[in-house]
Amino acid sequence: MNGAILDLAVAIPHHYVSHKELAQARGVEADKYHRGLGCDEMAICGPGEDTVTLAAEAAWRLFEHNPEARERIGLCIVGTESGVDAAKPVAIYVHRLLGLPANCRAFEIKHACYGATAALQMASSWVQQHPKRLALVIASDIARYERGSAGEPTQGAGAVAMLVGKADERDALLQLSPISGAFANDVYDFWRPPYQSEALVKGKYSMNCYLEGLQGAYEDYCRQAGDEPTPDYLLYHVPFPAMARKAHRRMSDLRGLSDELYYEDLESRVEPALWANRKVGNVYSGSLYLALAGLCERKGTRLIGRRLALFSYGSGSCSEYFTGRFGEGVHRYHRHLQHLLDTRTEVDVDQYELLHDASLKMERNNSFQSALPHQGQAFTFLGIRDHERCYRQNFAEDAVALIPARPTILNNTRPFQRA
Ligand code: COA
Repeated sequence: MNGAILDLAVAIPHHYVSHKELAQARGVEADKYHRGLGCDEMAICGPGEDTVTLAAEAAWRLFEHNPEARERIGLCIVGTESGVDAAKPVAIYVHRLLGLPANCRAFEIKHACYGATAALQMASSWVQQHPKRLALVIASDIARYERGSAGEPTQGAGAVAMLVGKADERDALLQLSPISGAFANDVYDFWRPPYQSEALVKGKYSMNCYLEGLQGAYEDYCRQAGDEPTPDYLLYHVPFPAMARKAHRRMSDLRGLSDELYYEDLESRVEPALWANRKVGNVYSGSLYLALAGLCERKGTRLIGRRLALFSYGSGSCSEYFTGRFGEGVHRYHRHLQHLLDTRTEVDVDQYELLHDASLKMERNNSFQSALPHQGQAFTFLGIRDHERCYRQNFAEDAVALIPARPTILNNTRPFQRA
């Protein structure tokens, strides 16, 4: 018996730009982004949003739907490759912003887009030893590439929070199988040195590394699992939706499927999960789990009893292929993703560039400002003061009272002192 995902919730930035507009501004045919990459819209972080606010908002939404769970959290892990500090983890900000129990392990895991899967597997084992407690696993990331680069249309941002616990198959939203296949390989396909705010990437090479990782992890899985029924749905890591199609092509070749079956299979077993990724863009460690939320939202309780395969890839690289079965816990999933998408504000390319630049400026010391929250934004990043990041909780009943010139700040008030 392994752990289970009991519920999940998503947070996305409050602005987006359409790929049609972006293509026009970059002098590229719109179909390259729309059909070639499979992208329609790209989420853009504004200055009040960062990896912490996205992570905290996703978890806050999860506890809104599962209020009794908060007190039982004994492990809080954030998988991210866009952490906000080289030492202090995103998880500890989330721990504070959400008022999680003090008797709790809180830390961050980094391995490019694989981090959240490492966190999920760790949490899944941990709940076996702590059956009365729950783990909070969050994938939170902001995907940034250089403006005008080939990677630019594959940006995006968001977070997915998952509640992990020990459950029988009927209570689980997704009961995870104890078998998983892994594949690690030291490559320079995508990386971000500490002196860079945007990632460096060898685009085509990274796609080959991804496919090599898929094959390696899948073969490792098959060696352990032997003959198993074909999964009803497959989720692949989604840096851009067309990559999931390429992954499924490779998977079909490995399984010896004909071209005809590949297309049929793609439509029925892969595509139903990808609709939200087309509108959010890359969420690095969260993109696989955004696809999971997309599938839950689209299929709802029809998923109960269905088998799912998941493939996670993190550049650098580490890959994992694992499976699970949907249980009655699917009833717990509260549809919210479409609403989040519908309530975003569209911006044009000039505004996207301004937002992008403004949020990078917020990463500088003494960028502190008392910005107003967007409608529906649970937490706001106020900037950095005396080298400490400052956040505001917007959802308290007295939220308006938190807005004055010197707001209540959820951060240490002690001044920074050099060691
Ligand atoms: N109509 C329809 N399709 C078009 C088109 C048009 N007018 N113009 C181009 N395309 C297709 C291309 O044929 C290609 O499809 P294919 O891969 O099936 O052949 C696709 O659009 C992309 O075009 P391409 O010229 O290969 O794009 P690019 O070199 O500008 O960059 C990436 C694509 C993915 C390499 C780039 O966006 C990138 O580096 N992204 C970040 C890295 C990443 O996400 N890696 C994934 C593994 S982790």
